[in-house]
Amino acid sequence: MLVLSGDLVMKADKSHYIELYQYIRTFTHNPIYAIPGNHDDIVLMQELATQENLFKIHDVIQICGNDVIFLDSSEKGEYLGGGKIDIAYFETIKSKLRENSNKIIFIHHPPFKIGADWFQKICLDNGDLLMKSISEINHLKYLAYGHCHNYFIEERENTIFLSCPSSWVQFDHTCHDEIKYDQKIAIGFNVFHLSDDISHHTITISDH
Ligand SMILES: [Fe+2]
Repeated sequence: MLVLSGDLVMKADKSHYIELYQYIRTFTHNPIYAIPGNHDDIVLMQELATQENLFKIHDVIQICGNDVIFLDSSEKGEYLGGGKIDIAYFETIKSKLRENSNKIIFIHHPPFKIGADWFQKICLDNGDLLMKSISEINHLKYLAYGHCHNYFIEERENTIFLSCPSSWVQFDHTCHDEIKYDQKIAIGFNVFHLSDDISHHTITISDH
């Protein structure tokens, strides 16, 4: 299955979502799950999921012994582009998780400050609360996020926090004052393997 980790379109317009969906469908007939980013409109995405049968919107799905969790961080943060999560809703999602399953979370905004100074202002506004809450989840193997347009990975308390690079262009996180693109960094995506354990590898496509 394919997971789109937010910012599917630049401008949240029905025709743009449909065009993207049809474009991806020329490559695969597998299920496509999506979470919203700061550029998306979750209400519109939910409408399209039900009325037009486009990108699937779920909060938890089970794949064999694994629980896959999709979070909505598209509530506006303090700064333009930032995000927030509904912690009360997250607690209801947590109650659906199986005690002994391996788990992976997908969310658009990173739950802690990372990267360039300007970018650190537009991470998840209430990330501290989310980090505290996820520390109570057993066997959380991965938290995979988008938004940062680059390659980040770190492990904390047996969970790998992994960014998905942009499929468009990467940000130059060494430039701290403003958004700068680095066209030399390859685009890419992550592939997760879900069986008795969860693992990943990252694909880069340098000659775009
Ligand atoms: Fe974003």
